[in-house]
Amino acid sequence: MRQRVLVTAALPYANGPLHFGHIAGAYLPADCYARFERLQGRDVLYICGSDEYGVAITLSAELAGRTPKEHVDLYHEINQKFFSQLQIHFDHFSRTTTSFHQPIVHAFFQNLYGNGFIEPQDTEQLYSEADHRFLADRYVIGTCPRCGFEEARGDECGKCGASYEATDLKQPRSKLTGASLQKRCTRHWYLRFDRFREKLEAFLASRDWKPNVENFARQYVEDLRPRAITRDLEWGVPVPLAEAKDKVFYVWFDAPIGYISATVEWAAKKATPSAWEEYWLNPETKYVQFIGKDNIPFHAVFFPAMIMGQNRPYKLVDDLVANEFYNLEGKQFSKSDGWTIDLDLFFEHFSADQIRYVLAANAPETADSEFTWKDFQQRCNGELVGKFGNLINRVLVFIQTHGEGCRPSVAVKEEFDLQFEKDCLRLMSEIEQNYQGYRLRKVASLVMELAQLGNAYFDQKAPWKDVKDPARHDRMKTTLALCLEAIKYLALASSALMPDTAQKIWQMLGGEGSLADLNWKKVLEAKFITPKLQPPQLLFQRVEDDIIAIQVKRLKHMQETACAVQAPPYLPLKPQITIDQFQQVDLRVATILEVEKVPKSKKLLKLYVDLGFEKRTVVSGISLHYTPEQLVGKKVILVANLKPSTLMGVESQGMVLAGLHDDKLEVITVVDLPGGAEVS
Ligand code: 2FM
Ligand code: ZN
Repeated sequence: MRQRVLVTAALPYANGPLHFGHIAGAYLPADCYARFERLQGRDVLYICGSDEYGVAITLSAELAGRTPKEHVDLYHEINQKFFSQLQIHFDHFSRTTTSFHQPIVHAFFQNLYGNGFIEPQDTEQLYSEADHRFLADRYVIGTCPRCGFEEARGDECGKCGASYEATDLKQPRSKLTGASLQKRCTRHWYLRFDRFREKLEAFLASRDWKPNVENFARQYVEDLRPRAITRDLEWGVPVPLAEAKDKVFYVWFDAPIGYISATVEWAAKKATPSAWEEYWLNPETKYVQFIGKDNIPFHAVFFPAMIMGQNRPYKLVDDLVANEFYNLEGKQFSKSDGWTIDLDLFFEHFSADQIRYVLAANAPETADSEFTWKDFQQRCNGELVGKFGNLINRVLVFIQTHGEGCRPSVAVKEEFDLQFEKDCLRLMSEIEQNYQGYRLRKVASLVMELAQLGNAYFDQKAPWKDVKDPARHDRMKTTLALCLEAIKYLALASSALMPDTAQKIWQMLGGEGSLADLNWKKVLEAKFITPKLQPPQLLFQRVEDDIIAIQVKRLKHMQETACAVQAPPYLPLKPQITIDQFQQVDLRVATILEVEKVPKSKKLLKLYVDLGFEKRTVVSGISLHYTPEQLVGKKVILVANLKPSTLMGVESQGMVLAGLHDDKLEVITVVDLPGGAEVS
């Protein structure tokens, strides 16, 4: 019985075009892994699809003047095309608006409900009389309860970083119409995640995940609370309860169930409707999820808890592969800021395999990494053309010229030949292990090492000298035969990473059919394919300076245009105050002694500061701009008589002064004044 492997990659929101950051983070590593496991003879199913519900989608659709359905239809198509341009090959790419999805989400809910894991709770939410609907936090703006910023978002303040409920905003209003909003009572259904703590702890203990994933997941489990899984929206999977007829499920409740419904759809479409059960209900199946790091809690904790509350034994994830972020030239990809790569233009000049290789070589596996045009050019020219392509080309051209394209056979092996064979096989075994361990970066570098090993061997054996002396022809034949063997290894090793290139090599070697359909071990061991080699063809184009210059210029121009349109406005001055009013604010120098992150908050840091006469804890929304190490020892200015407030469960006894412009934040510091000194 072949081992079954279920591979899923995070369902991308159909809410905008995907970029290379997404590809490097989840879809390429998953694709390479699925292709590799297939070569190993395993029964692999690679499932993905569009995530089509959620407030972010309804909001973008409204802003773009589309219905949510029009909006997701558009991006579902666009993203599917992008995947196919990149040779990301899913066994099935579904969407959460299919008819398969809703019944399975309902069954999930019914099981959790029937098993006592779901409870209703009445809460106050913001209601728009003008629109006759409740508005979720992303639809709301208002005045920050902490710093008074008037354009604060519904969930957190862009100015001071405070994190709160939309109902905490002062003067809340609709982001779409500006209409003012009122608080109204509404009932929501909460999933009691806290009741799964022990099972989740045991589950996490049974898995051997990368430390970033494991630590993050463990922190979540320590502080599990009930979470609302329903929303007052029209766009989403309806909640199957009579008293919840205007509600839909929170997108993170229905989305992961999309992995299952997509598999059910896959089975139905190939007319074997129960085939999905072998992947989802068979404990022998290995299940591997590929996600970006921002999705860890949902995959490591929430979805497993949802599964634990079911009456059917759905597979829990075995390996959770979560990558870090992948940026573009030092900054996050951002369509609205023009910080992107035009994909149509990209594919006019470059191939899928070039970008697949470069993304893999820089994959953000253990730390954030980035795409730069310079690195792209260097890797394409220095590695793909200069090392990989060079070996294949020089060997095959030599055989065409001196051996009429016929495969030479090994005659006599010297020690050096035996060592080369051994080194090649050692690299192949390392490549295998690294594919298996989801270390694509290492795979890419080992593939290049193999190419360089071949180049060094060819140089050392110098067959161009042997060809001139008939007494050394046997030696030359051995050299060429072993080089061909190494080239076959290269094709095999890169088949999952650069499938088009690997297939071209396979054909040049006289291989029949599709390399991707063959078995790793058999290809590795097969000594001959066919005796006749095909004429060599170019595998990679050189990337010329002028093409790169155009891309860099374009990027710069796009950013300038976007900046010109969206230059951050200088906020209007606030009404005048008197000197007496100003003097009511007690500003003091505070020395930062210790800094730690506030759990579960992206922006907040907890600072322990010394005012000379006393020590205090202050919560500050500066985590995106400073690491704790950068802050310790700094002397900052504290609003020392601000009424304490609680942020994310931590009491803040003051506020640190900082300036913000164009998304850059700088904490105001002093050099000579001691802690406690008055500032006025
Ligand atoms: O972050 C995202 O793009 C989400 N749409 C991922 C969902 S993964 C799964 F749960 F569906
Ligand atoms: Zn604020």
